[in-house]
Amino acid sequence: MQHRQKTIALAWVFLSTGIGPQVAWGISGQTIRSDRGMVTSAYPLASDVGLSILRKGGNAVDAAVATTLAVSVVEPFSAGIGGGGFLLLRQAATGDLKALDFREKAPLKATATMYLDAQGKVRPNASTDGFLSVGVPGTIAGLSEVQQRYGRLPWSTVVAPAVGLAERGFIVSNRLAQATRDRLPMLDRNPAARTIFTRNGQPFNPGDRLTQKDLGRTLRIIAKNPQDFYTGEIASAITRDMQRNGGLVTLEDLKTYKPTWRSPVCGSFKQMQVCSMPPPSSGGVHLIQLLNLWSGSKLESQPRHSPDALHFMAESMKIAYADRAIHLGDPGFVRVPVAALIDPAYAAQRSREISMGRARAAAEVKASSPEFLRRFSKKTESTETSHLSVVDPDRNAVSLTFTVNLNFGAGVVAAGTGILLNNEMDDFAIAPNTPNAFGLVGQQANAIAPGKIPLSSMTPTIVTEGGQFKLAVGSPGGSTIITTVFQILLNSLVYKMDAGQAVSAPRIHNQWLPDRLRVEKDGFDPSVLKALQAKGQVVEERSPWGNANLILVKPDNTLEGAADPRGEGSAVGY
Ligand code: DON
Repeated sequence: MQHRQKTIALAWVFLSTGIGPQVAWGISGQTIRSDRGMVTSAYPLASDVGLSILRKGGNAVDAAVATTLAVSVVEPFSAGIGGGGFLLLRQAATGDLKALDFREKAPLKATATMYLDAQGKVRPNASTDGFLSVGVPGTIAGLSEVQQRYGRLPWSTVVAPAVGLAERGFIVSNRLAQATRDRLPMLDRNPAARTIFTRNGQPFNPGDRLTQKDLGRTLRIIAKNPQDFYTGEIASAITRDMQRNGGLVTLEDLKTYKPTWRSPVCGSFKQMQVCSMPPPSSGGVHLIQLLNLWSGSKLESQPRHSPDALHFMAESMKIAYADRAIHLGDPGFVRVPVAALIDPAYAAQRSREISMGRARAAAEVKASSPEFLRRFSKKTESTETSHLSVVDPDRNAVSLTFTVNLNFGAGVVAAGTGILLNNEMDDFAIAPNTPNAFGLVGQQANAIAPGKIPLSSMTPTIVTEGGQFKLAVGSPGGSTIITTVFQILLNSLVYKMDAGQAVSAPRIHNQWLPDRLRVEKDGFDPSVLKALQAKGQVVEERSPWGNANLILVKPDNTLEGAADPRGEGSAVGY
């Protein structure tokens, strides 16, 4: 973020929210510390909203919901009420950990071949652009479910700050301006999106003011009755526009949408318990698989960015993403072998395939067969994105990731509502082995079916130790989310970096296919990259990715947090 905008944001903190200077406030990459509560999110105005709710006596749920709605307004290209997501909630009083799935679903009229032409070929951009790419949104259903059950303040109080941000407007940041430039042709084609997110077809500049009157009105309706989104005038407006423009989402889809409480997926790591999102996200399963593989590696004594440590991580990632491509999908539709995939004995078996001297080509790395996986845990199975973390004075914690999928989602706004719609349908395997926008491939387990949830990589995570809250973290970044969270956990829990260092440290990523080891540009010593190449890693330098938000608790019960320097977020505490 430019200095000028940081100053504006800081002025906002002191002047508009009435938050006094006793507040700890850190721009992206800075570690901040506080005693009572903390919020980290991808946008300073949204973090400030969360903090003001905590200071009003709201708990972590109230603050997380208010922050999420504020992010929906100020970071509309990343995440919003036209999309969906996942959250983890840890209640301090009981130690209970719950996961809420408010991910988008395929419309009831969706079919497995809806993005193919008559010859069976994938129609370019059909699953990413426009009304046909939209899944049934879940954000409002999820937020109202968790807030009504576990929040302390009235629902209307936590919605109010987002109404203000939409109606009064806010200063456009570099990222938002860049996002409108990147998606301009699509935004320009949809009249409602053009009116709101461009200035007569021209992209916004940093420093401009963006107001969203329609969204403000929609949020006012939601403040009175969140169900209106699914059964009332908002639902009618969405479905009317869908019908006019060839979309599939109907009133029936909206009326029947329900978020789902799920059991988090958990594993042990160094006397700690790491819990994250179960399917239909692949995040938790593969995060734990990667941690299990790491635990067996005996590489802890090596420096964080030694060629051996990085090589082992890369080889582990290939195994995890190969399994992901075959086995992961919506557990309401396919049997996902979660218990086997997160079994340390399974990791021990698979780590035998890893040679420390030689990288395996993707073609040599295979997903395990269902028969092989059955040897492990016999437990039966039940059946652009934004992350925020919140911890309150009682040490209740929320870790929440939500999204409209790609930059500006489907690139369309439901006329009259101000709601930018997701293009989450692209997270399905739209045809076997056809890469999605993140280059991820999949097969039957993640094929489209009516009412099915597309497979996600979102990885909202909470770590506990000795029954006490320890850390909350997550990130956007599509396929890279899982490996980003994995590396931040290693940075923090193994290499003992502080919060700012843990989210800042350069990252690597390998997702099996394409057969590449992505490394953040300028993040690694050239001699390390040479050593990795000598082992056969196909190294590819890429611009930095991810936008993590981390809060951790120190042994003296104070909080430490940081927002990722790759983004424009902030950590705020009091
Ligand atoms: O659910 C998923 O895995 C994706 N739809 C997330 C998209 C995302 O992180 C976009 N950000 N770069």
